[in-house]
Amino acid sequence: MEIREAIVKDWEKVRDLYLTLLREDPQAFVDTYEEMSVKDGDYWINRLEKKDGKTFIAIDDNNFVGMGRINFYDKFPEIPVMHKLGVLSEYRGKGMAKELVKAREEWAKSRGAEKVRLYVIADNVTAVKFAEKNGYKLLEKFENDIKRDNGKYTDTLLMEKDLI
Ligand SMILES: CC(C)(COP(=O)(O)OP(=O)(O)OC[C@H]1O[C@@H](n2cnc3c(N)ncnc32)[C@H](O)[C@@H]1OP(=O)(O)O)[C@@H](O)C(=O)NCCC(=O)NCCS
Repeated sequence: MEIREAIVKDWEKVRDLYLTLLREDPQAFVDTYEEMSVKDGDYWINRLEKKDGKTFIAIDDNNFVGMGRINFYDKFPEIPVMHKLGVLSEYRGKGMAKELVKAREEWAKSRGAEKVRLYVIADNVTAVKFAEKNGYKLLEKFENDIKRDNGKYTDTLLMEKDLI
């Protein structure tokens, strides 16, 4: 297994992996397969070119099997936010997500960040437990934050970790 930053020429593999993750676990993400599958190449290339964020990928035997992104946002410019974390189901439980978290934390530190945040959907128990196990603590709960396709609303959690 190798973890590395995605570069622009990886865009199709990154897109295909993210679309597969969205199909496998639609409830785990705020993005939907329907909206992401119609984005054109420029969208994916622009994201990989952005200087205020990075996408990291886990590679097994030349295949992209896991990913996670981190970005600085204007809302809290000193604390980057991790999102789009996912590992293909057959590769889970092997520590790939943990390494994807570590890689993004290292990138955040290299950019001078002292904390990192992430949003997780409250009923995604696996991801919440995973975040807690990796040192993330609940900062705020947003009730009925996201509307699902079935019309129901779900809560999201904002979690944070100190890097120093
Ligand atoms: C959450 C997810 C990324 C975890 O990926 P993974 O590669 O299986 O995680 P890892 O193997 O790196 O697990 C690292 C640690 O978390 C623990 N862990 C993983 N799944 C867990 C679970 N369901 N409950 C409790 N702990 C769990 C592992 O035991 C491991 O602990 P250890 O280091 O002490 O052995 C994966 O389940 C996934 O892709 N889910 C669908 C998408 C998703 O929910 N993304 C999160 C959006 S915020």
